[in-house]
Parts: sequence; structure tokens; C-alpha cells
Amino acid sequence: MTKRKKKIIITVDGYSSCGKSTFAKAIAGELGYIYIDSGAMYRAVTLFALRRGLAGGGTADEGRIVEALPEIDITFRPDRQTGFPVTYLNGEMVEREIRDREVSENVSPVSTIARVRARLVELQRALGAGGGVVMDGRDIGTVVFPDAELKIFMTASPEVRAQRRYLELVSKGLPADFEAVMRNISERDRIDSSREASPLRRADDAVILDNSDMTPAEQMVWFRELYKRRMNES
Ligand code: DC
Repeated sequence: MTKRKKKIIITVDGYSSCGKSTFAKAIAGELGYIYIDSGAMYRAVTLFALRRGLAGGGTADEGRIVEALPEIDITFRPDRQTGFPVTYLNGEMVEREIRDREVSENVSPVSTIARVRARLVELQRALGAGGGVVMDGRDIGTVVFPDAELKIFMTASPEVRAQRRYLELVSKGLPADFEAVMRNISERDRIDSSREASPLRRADDAVILDNSDMTPAEQMVWFRELYKRRMNES
């Protein structure tokens, strides 16, 4: 009898614009796992707050955002073409809006709010409960799934990350200014790493992937090796 492969939880944490989602999606596609973008959830809450005037100019009104939390419903539905999950906010597809510059500039202050984090962590745990999931974010291996079977911490130089983000914006036809992208990345790194609630840090048992000089294909070769080893150990 052939042994059925156990469906594990894989966490992919790291700095912004490291290529976490590209990498996590590729892994999920290869293993037939579900991909969950936890950053999209923080972005959706930020979009809601911006629309209500509860955030803006790099600040967030903690009290009113917490008060509004019961009104925020975030769901994912598979995209008809790619099959990857697309983000919905209160039933509205917001995948494009949550990537806008205004959201990127206000998402860090919104994600420092402990009650926002508690609510989203609950949702993330529910989505990952059955295993067979690749989830990317900042605190997935440390807080959301501390017992995950395979944890990866991604990093790349700030210049490489800014260049990738800049090219991504250009390819989507969105306004792009390299210096502004660089500033936004540094500022998000600073806030994400220094905040009190679940700061970005590598879990002790996470494997580091520095992809500054790696192509997506090389990263997959690296991953397959790691996955094979880990599954043979368990
Ligand atoms: O992965 P991303 O750049 O789309 O995430 C957007 C922001 O959300 C990021 O600046 C920090 C926050 N975030 C977080 O605090 N915790 C997570 N697990 C994921 C994202």
C-alpha cells in the first residue's frame, strides 16, 4: 500500500516585496495546496478604514477601527482563470484596490492594532485548520502557526526588493516612482519589525531563503530539496 503524503502547513514569512507571494503560490500550485495571502487581509481592513475616513496620511484611528471590526467581512474565492484565491471585502472583489499605493502607505499603522491582529489571526487559523496550506505574511510561523511543519523566512536586499516592486507597478500600468517605492519599503520594514504586536521576526525553526540573486526557478529547486528532506524526516 502506498503511503499517502501528509498535508502539512507551510509558512512563508519575511520582508515586504521579497517575492513571498510568487514563491508561496508556486509551492501551493506544485503541491496542490491552498495559498493564503495574510497580507491581503490587513490590506482589506486598511481599504475599509480608508473608505470610512478611519485611516489616512500614514495614521490609523485605532478606537474607531476596532469598533468597526464586526462590520468587516473578509473572504477568499478562487479566481476563475488562475484558481488562486482572490480577496473579497463585504462581498466586493477588492484584489486590485488593496494593492493601491494609498493602501500600501497606510497598511502598517493599521496592522499594528492588536485587536485587528487578533481578529485576523483567528480567521487565518480557521482557514489553515485542515492543513494542505501555504500561508505567507509576517507572523505566520511565529504566532499564527507556531507548530507548522515547514517554515520559511524570506529576505532579499532592499534595492532588489524596490526594483521588483517598481517593475510590478509598471507592468500593472500603475503610477511608479522608484525613490517613493524605496521609501515605502524601508518605512514598512521599520514599522513591521519594531511594532509591539507580533513584530516581524524569524521563527527559531524557520529556514532562511535569501533570494536576492535567485530566479523563481532556482527558488523552486531549493524548495523541492527542503520539502523532500522534511517529509522524509517526519
Ligand atoms: O505581504 P504584504 O506586503 O501584502 O502585507 C501588507 C502589510 O500587512 C505589511 O506591511 C504588514 C502587514 N502584515 C502583517 O502585519 N502581518 C501579516 N501576517 C501579513 C501582513
